Amino acid sequence: MGEMEDLCVTECTRCPALVDSRSRIVNGTGPEDADMVFVGEGPGAQEDADGEPFVGRSGTVLDDGLRTVGLARDDIRITNCVRCRPPENRDPHKAELENCRGYLERELDRLDPDVIVTLGKVPSEHLLGRSVAVTKEAGSVEDVRIEGTPRRVLICIHPAATLYDRSQEETFENALQRAAELADVEGSEGGQTRLDGF
Ligand code: URA
Repeated sequence: MGEMEDLCVTECTRCPALVDSRSRIVNGTGPEDADMVFVGEGPGAQEDADGEPFVGRSGTVLDDGLRTVGLARDDIRITNCVRCRPPENRDPHKAELENCRGYLERELDRLDPDVIVTLGKVPSEHLLGRSVAVTKEAGSVEDVRIEGTPRRVLICIHPAATLYDRSQEETFENALQRAAELADVEGSEGGQTRLDGF
């Protein structure tokens, strides 16, 4: 089995409600040597249909935001806390998050990124293991141990939050800007491609 293949979950029946609601398992996308991993909550309708994370409206907001701060989506890894679409787009339950935690940890372990960007409250709390006031804390960086390994987590609001409240656009972009700066600092050897002047 190739390295990427074993990052792909192809069969899982741990969460009965999600097995019922999903059309497919949505795995992470992006290069295995990415310096940054963006972690969302779970697939929505479009992601469930296409089999890729962040390809719906939230994905468009994310892509636009990345471009604004000079980052290319092709250079980052994008994944989710749970890989199957929850019914009616509800938040994943605690047990579902825990059922899927090992897949995410394996992905983080393999990529060993310089920075993990958590998109929204669910992934922020899932990876930091505490409650997070995401709007207030967006843009802040926290060093934590995940599975015993020190990791740097940058808290960000969920891209969809900007669709409900336009005043959040600045918060979102500022957090992405911080991610871009971290990639520059951390990525001096073969770091992220910057699209300066693009
Ligand atoms: N929202 C998420 O959290 N993840 C996706 O993949 C799409 C929308």
